[in-house]
Amino acid sequence: MATLLSSLASPTRILALEALDGEGLAAVALYLSASTSSPIVVVRDPRPFSALDPALADLASRRPVVILDRVVPNPRSEDIGAMVEATRLAFGGQAPGLVIGIGGGSALDSAKALALMLANPGDLDDYLGLRASRKPEAKGPKLALIPTTTGTGSEVTRFGVYTDRAGRKYTLASPLLQPDAALLVATAVADIPPALLAATAYDAITHALETLWNRNATPVSDSLAHAALVELLRLAGPAYEARRGGRIDGHTAALLAAACSAGVAFNVTGTAAIHALSFVLSEEWHQPHGVACAFFTDSVYSINSALPAIRAKLARVAREVARDAAHDDARSKPEDSAAKRSAAGEEAFSDDIRAAAWLGEKLVALRRSLGLASTFSDLGVGAAELPESRIASLFDKVQDDQKLKNNAVLIDAQSMRALVAAKLQ
Ligand SMILES: [Fe+2]
Repeated sequence: MATLLSSLASPTRILALEALDGEGLAAVALYLSASTSSPIVVVRDPRPFSALDPALADLASRRPVVILDRVVPNPRSEDIGAMVEATRLAFGGQAPGLVIGIGGGSALDSAKALALMLANPGDLDDYLGLRASRKPEAKGPKLALIPTTTGTGSEVTRFGVYTDRAGRKYTLASPLLQPDAALLVATAVADIPPALLAATAYDAITHALETLWNRNATPVSDSLAHAALVELLRLAGPAYEARRGGRIDGHTAALLAAACSAGVAFNVTGTAAIHALSFVLSEEWHQPHGVACAFFTDSVYSINSALPAIRAKLARVAREVARDAAHDDARSKPEDSAAKRSAAGEEAFSDDIRAAAWLGEKLVALRRSLGLASTFSDLGVGAAELPESRIASLFDKVQDDQKLKNNAVLIDAQSMRALVAAKLQ
């Protein structure tokens, strides 16, 4: 149901497939391209994808294809510039009819920026930040994205995250970045490494949370984010445990669908304080995006859940998650199901404060069980390296970030310094 709702709410065509062969990929390419012979650029993570590589080889036997696989985490303007150059060289100036992105968030964001910069002048740096000198005006080639991780949501959003030539990370938002198609291929995530699953699933959880406590929230974004969050909380733990045990099962595909729904949700609102803070962790300590988002989730959760309207939304999620858990227990242990239902679903959640607190604890426990960092010492950063003056110089700049301004509760510079300092304990 959540997936169906998401498809209807997204300008991107979302296809959920069990597997993707050469014929299927060629059919998608044909559907999206202006002509049957126009060249195709593939931007992909360098690691092999056993579920997708044969389809790519097959596509390359039918159409002119160039594959760009020098995708780096947190892609920089110069990386995108090099891809634009390589595309022009490969096709002698002929414009590609389609860009296909395959991989995690960095690969998908790189594909989005490449498509944009093939149609717009200048350097990607010109389009980033508050002092941007240009605005995207032209739509690039059609864009089809295939996620191979379980969280980014980039395959359905109008956002891309890029690092400028000075090393500062920015969100670029434009309807011209919106992908034309997202292919959710179950086999492409079936063998995802557990650490990658953990970080990307938690990223998706923060997308749903940041939609719920966003100043731009609408009834539609609330409904999508609520459904996605309930699903993500149900699936993340079992999916991680399955992959840790080396098992390939249906959990990862279900997680991919839920993460995509969270992407559709935050495409309405943008993200908020967790993401604004996370950028500093990625810029300064090169933390992967999902790890950096997980790091600040508890701090931002306690700030936002103090607001009654937000607390009510979180409490509704808590009640549904608890009810689902009680039903699962009832199926597996019918002898004590009545007592558990009462304890988990009703008595304990008679008021929003207790329900939202329960959900906050669940998020902390999940982060812990996924092995994600929660303090600076987890990152190997000691208190001596982060005196008050350095916290201020690193984090005060977040005040300019639109994502922070989207947050339900405004977090001023002083509160933010305190929040960061608390992570040194
Ligand atoms: Fe994110």
